Amino acid sequence: MSDVAASTAPATLDVTAVRAQFPYLERPEGIVYLDSGASAQKPRPVLDAMYDFGGSHYANVHRGVHRLAVEADRGYDAARATIAAFVGSTPKETIVVKSVTEAINLVAQTWGATNVGEGDEIVITQMEHHANLVPWQQLAIRKGATLRYLEVDGEGRIDLGQLDGFLASGRVKLVAVAHVSNVLGTRNPVAEIVRRSHAARARVMVDGAQAVPQEPVDVTALGADFYGWTGHKLYGPTGIGVLHVRRDLLADMPPFLTGGDMINIVDFHETSWAGGIQRFEAGTPPIVEAVGLAAACDWVDSIGGPAAVLAHEESITAYALRRLAEVEGLRVVGPPEARDRGALTSFALDGLHPHDVAEILARNEVCVRAGQHCAEPLHRAIGIPATTRASFGVTTTREEIDALIDALAEARRIFS
Ligand code: ALA
Repeated sequence: MSDVAASTAPATLDVTAVRAQFPYLERPEGIVYLDSGASAQKPRPVLDAMYDFGGSHYANVHRGVHRLAVEADRGYDAARATIAAFVGSTPKETIVVKSVTEAINLVAQTWGATNVGEGDEIVITQMEHHANLVPWQQLAIRKGATLRYLEVDGEGRIDLGQLDGFLASGRVKLVAVAHVSNVLGTRNPVAEIVRRSHAARARVMVDGAQAVPQEPVDVTALGADFYGWTGHKLYGPTGIGVLHVRRDLLADMPPFLTGGDMINIVDFHETSWAGGIQRFEAGTPPIVEAVGLAAACDWVDSIGGPAAVLAHEESITAYALRRLAEVEGLRVVGPPEARDRGALTSFALDGLHPHDVAEILARNEVCVRAGQHCAEPLHRAIGIPATTRASFGVTTTREEIDALIDALAEARRIFS
């Protein structure tokens, strides 16, 4: 094989080597963690990076000239550059926030407040989790705008014909959509949604909370106006989220939170705002968390990168779908094929409450999430009150899926 071919061949994940880097797997109980969709476990290099930076290079940022302040500035600024590059963005379009929820609220309360008015329309999908639903619902209420929902079909997909129908009104100001659904697993055709929405002069907000940890994402290539994601699902810390905003939109967006660091000049009765992303980062930012998230991006690259993660998780999801199909009375929601979905499976088991299922799984050290997964309207739309969700990550093995299936069989025995 030539050097060129070797360097372009997709890397594969060495799951044994990856698992050796996670302290939770050293616990004696033999934990089977199938809850990465809620929050991913952290590998040692990420924890070490936070410990080292927080312990030896830490000070507040953009405020000091002493040695530690200079090192902290460098670490924080370098972290933003790494985080931006990981998803094909630039530091000047990358705002550090607290969570994806905050990212979406920021857009709703700044761009939304100035660009959405009475009679305008906002389009979202029935599959949004509350973070990408409630802010738009409340904005629509405040502004006298109309919130329209793209419906989810029996396989958990939206219909782009319905989107075209909505866009044809000429009143749609924003389309907000999950890149990957946290319940159905559906991978939405975001680039096409952006193309059609832009043709109708509508802006697009993409919630990438589930997508960024699972697949290569290039926010510039996707063309979305706003793209939000979160650190803790990418093997990084909690308390940090990311919002990418197209540079040409930033200039016209009013501030979100006001206070230190986001200002230009402050007088007793008036204040002028900083430009660019700085206007949206009031107060002391999540400094150690930013360094931790950058370490998580580097770490994902070090194990083969997002393409290798995708290949591993798609194969695990395909195996999980095959095995779950063997369980009597079990119905998986969302697209039937692994290639059309993210690395998670939500399911209902005839006659069993998801919380009871999760409880039996927990007794077997199989960790899943049960309930509505912060997506109550979606469960109403698909006519299932709640589901049990097994979500996968870089540590997931086929043996762990087998453990899930065995524990589900036990739940069936106990409750029937
Ligand atoms: N939205 C997160 C989940 O799906 C918290 O569990």
